[in-house]
Amino acid sequence: MKKEKLVIRELQTPEEFRQTEAISRLAWQFNDLAISPVSDLIASTHSGGLTAGVFSGKQMLGFVHSLPRVNQGQPCQHSHLLAVHPKAQGKGLSIRLKLYQREWCLAHNIRLITWTYDPFFLKNARLNLGRLRATVRTFLPNFYGAMGGIYGELPTDRFEVAWRLLDPLVERAAQGEESAVVHEEEKLPVVTNPRSIPAAPRLAVTFPAGAPALYQTDPAGSIKERRRFARIVGPLLEKGYEVTGVTLLRKGPAYVFDLR
Ligand SMILES: CC(C)(COP(=O)(O)OP(=O)(O)OC[C@H]1O[C@@H](n2cnc3c(N)ncnc32)[C@H](O)[C@@H]1OP(=O)(O)O)[C@@H](O)C(=O)NCCC(=O)NCCS
Repeated sequence: MKKEKLVIRELQTPEEFRQTEAISRLAWQFNDLAISPVSDLIASTHSGGLTAGVFSGKQMLGFVHSLPRVNQGQPCQHSHLLAVHPKAQGKGLSIRLKLYQREWCLAHNIRLITWTYDPFFLKNARLNLGRLRATVRTFLPNFYGAMGGIYGELPTDRFEVAWRLLDPLVERAAQGEESAVVHEEEKLPVVTNPRSIPAAPRLAVTFPAGAPALYQTDPAGSIKERRRFARIVGPLLEKGYEVTGVTLLRKGPAYVFDLR
């Protein structure tokens, strides 16, 4: 890809919106019917949403799209799409897009952004919880129904993250601060049975490594893991725990749950 200065800005023309289709197709490997139509993106942007792209010259390398939402009487945005062209991934573009979205929201007096993601995606978990310092209090079972693409036939269970834009941790993360490494994590009680949740303020729940490739190589095992994870996470959130981080234990990747 040609080296040009990268610019992040709101999309301006239908042709620019059209470029989101190719990126979505590559990023999610969806069939055409599962790709958000340009007309929907334009209408929801017109109605108070944001669609911003990162450009190298005229070429879009990634985009973020959010819809207006109201939370407890306050305006917020629900971020529906974030995708980076596979050839441009791993270079920090998603972080730049999210930080642009944060600045845009603050300039519009919006202090909360929500979005959903597949809790088995370690990369997204690190981005959302580790790098951006969003947290999770809501679990949405089979949110979209089966979607295909990189999600295969798995139930589309989702974590809904809340990004409180003026939270001091979020402000520091926006300045580039790394999340603190918790060294005692190996000692965290790991919840394996929803009927015997240890009485501790901080707990861990493991999830399988290797998604989304795992969904294609071991669909049956992935579905089994999905069910196990859902059985544990639902009761934990109901008990007042919040997902605050993601870590790597000897057993594999795990979420950190803190009592609120
Ligand atoms: C998720 C996605 C948007 C990330 O975009 P990206 O530009 O490649 O990500 P970045 O380079 O900005 O990395 C963001 C963070 O993700 C994490 N990350 C990135 N690559 C990773 C990898 N291979 N393994 C683990 N974590 C990784 C890191 O925490 C990284 O932050 P750091 O560089 O400060 O450590 C991109 O992979 C994508 O388009 N995926 C498909 C669509 C999707 O899942 N969209 C979002 C959910 S709907």
